[in-house]
Amino acid sequence: MPQDTNSHISEVGRRINQLRAEIARHNRAYHVLDNPEVPDATYDQLKRELADLEVAHPELSADTSPTQQVGAPRNEAFASVTHTSAMLSLHNAFDINELRAWHERLLRRLDGRSPGSFAVELKLDGLAISLLYEDGLLVQGATRGDGKVGEDVTHNVCTISDIPTQLVGAPKQLGPPTQLVPPTQLGPPTQLGPPQVPKLLEVRGEVYMKLSSFEAFNELQQKRAEADGTKAKRFVNPRNTAAGSLRQISADVTAGRDLSFYCYQLSFATGGPQLDDHTSALKWLKTLGFPVNDHNRVFASLPEVETRVKELAEMRHTLDYDFDGIVVKVNDLQIQSELGADAKAPRWAIAYKLPPEEATTTLTDISVSIGPSGQATPFAQLEPVFVGGVTVGTATLHNEDQVRSKDVRPGDTVIVRRAGDVIPEVVGPVLADRPANSSPWVFPRNCPVCGEPLARHEGVAATHCVNFDCPRQIRGRIEHFAGRNAMDIEFLGEKNVDRFVTAGLLNDVSDLYRLDFDKILEMPGYLEKSVNNLREAIEQSKSRPLANLIFGLRIPEIGQVNAAVLAAAFPSIRQIMKASVEALTAIEGFGSVTAVAVHSWFATTRNRELIDRLEASGLTLEAEQSATTVPRTLANASVVVSGTFDGFTREAAKQAILSRGGKSPGSVSKSTLALVVGASPGAAKVTKAEAFGVPMIDENAFVDLLASGELPKGSR
Ligand code: IVH
Repeated sequence: MPQDTNSHISEVGRRINQLRAEIARHNRAYHVLDNPEVPDATYDQLKRELADLEVAHPELSADTSPTQQVGAPRNEAFASVTHTSAMLSLHNAFDINELRAWHERLLRRLDGRSPGSFAVELKLDGLAISLLYEDGLLVQGATRGDGKVGEDVTHNVCTISDIPTQLVGAPKQLGPPTQLVPPTQLGPPTQLGPPQVPKLLEVRGEVYMKLSSFEAFNELQQKRAEADGTKAKRFVNPRNTAAGSLRQISADVTAGRDLSFYCYQLSFATGGPQLDDHTSALKWLKTLGFPVNDHNRVFASLPEVETRVKELAEMRHTLDYDFDGIVVKVNDLQIQSELGADAKAPRWAIAYKLPPEEATTTLTDISVSIGPSGQATPFAQLEPVFVGGVTVGTATLHNEDQVRSKDVRPGDTVIVRRAGDVIPEVVGPVLADRPANSSPWVFPRNCPVCGEPLARHEGVAATHCVNFDCPRQIRGRIEHFAGRNAMDIEFLGEKNVDRFVTAGLLNDVSDLYRLDFDKILEMPGYLEKSVNNLREAIEQSKSRPLANLIFGLRIPEIGQVNAAVLAAAFPSIRQIMKASVEALTAIEGFGSVTAVAVHSWFATTRNRELIDRLEASGLTLEAEQSATTVPRTLANASVVVSGTFDGFTREAAKQAILSRGGKSPGSVSKSTLALVVGASPGAAKVTKAEAFGVPMIDENAFVDLLASGELPKGSR
């Protein structure tokens, strides 16, 4: 199709200008304010679009374009440091084909000569730092800044315990500075035994924050704010927190932020050993006291590199720090220097980027859903967005306090995150894009299902619909009663329960045993056969074991484990009904909270009448005569329990493990079979489980484990 070239070019020119302005704004938000407005993937996309347009239209390229720059302007509060050699960025490969294309380019540049081996490393998600040592003493720490000139943050760097202020084997006094020599002109090998302390040394690496430190820090912020009666500033992710922490005026602030460091490059050294490759350089730096990442490996060929890249990608959620890619480097320092760099990045390295786990989208509304036990949970309705491998349209906001602390509002552009199998979460709003007329979201006063007032008790995060007759709760109680772990009524299902409740056929669980099947047959879609199946299934449920019936009643504090404990302690429901709080407290694993909950449930007239109706319908309210001993499904296995659970106390869980032949120690070790994780688990246990590869299982999987001794399929 013929095209008006001029108008096409001006259209392209407009887009280029637009992209340059937008990227410059994001650069400032990321590098200067440590408060990015968009996820890295969106930024990468904009930069790639601009670079592609500039390649296609060289007449429109400019030295001032963000594609020609590294980083962004410096913060004026810090003294500036001119880097001895530019602190470059890395070119990205977004898939295996782009990695292969990089390799092809290497071969072309080397005229078919082999590039030698490749170093493969994690691309740590923190911020780059350059460290200068004179006679083994740290004399300067600088951020990357715009790549040529960075910020002097020596005072803060000194507070990071991973960064040596004095190298192993360093003399105590400072010597005079010597002439800088690039790595390829390193002096001849000296015969002194290791470690050989260089006269002058520049090392580069990444300052980052561990995930556990990040969580602990956010928790601390929350506690401090609660104590002061102020609103906590939630930090969005470890990277920005690390960057913000390092670029503090006061070193005391940095010192309180538990930052970590890995070195990934020897920039130059005078008076060190002869080094031929990157790997040997890192090995030497390790002997001088620098932390080097344990996952670094060297490979002879690209296919091996690709296998390692896949392996590392799968480790993404198993470590206590974030990495957003994998860096592949030509190992040979001579070949590195032959390949050189362009304005932005070296040609001898490439960053294989992992798929984004964060994306931005519009939060169209905040709604409240009512759970089966009346819990009112706010959730975000989102413009569907593809993130972490799935399309996300809704995300829970957990409770009123979470909405308030994140301050997300309908109409906001929000950052959505989905890492691994974790459920999607709204990280926070992009404040720069907030509509002018927006106001904080207010939790509704009434239940969206029954219209009755919602209640939130003091000191509790959750809001509830407390109307016993709320149709959602009626359905919830019946669904629970008919569930697989309770009375196991086949063919009932949520849809039928919903229809029968709406039709007024079901009001409570005892109505199941008085269902008017003729009425059901008159309802559209019900055939004789399916109704008979249902009738039969309900009939069969009458003889379920006592523990199943107790669990099915949904007594507060009584989950499957406690129901089994109760059924073992009393021969019938009538006996439990008569038991005093003292008698209930005396049950092993029962605390007073559980005992009081059971006692008051059975003291309530409405519940006693329900039991009468169930008995009248022919249900077994008694324990089976041949009460079998508990099977030793966990013989000699060690299962650690952490956090709080809906259905049982931690004590009862431990009791259940012990009675099945297992052990339940207070801490995780290599030999732990599983860590059972409830709400607010201990950070140390979780971190250890991750480190040792111990599977972490939830309440449901725990119940299955007790019964079968088997872990859920797919757990590590
Ligand atoms: S090598 C000449 N190795 O990624 C560039 N960089 O996007 C030398 N990074 O600024 C960089 N892990 O801050 C290298 N193992 C690693 C890295 C790494 C993280 C960062 C680094 C750099 C950025 C480039």
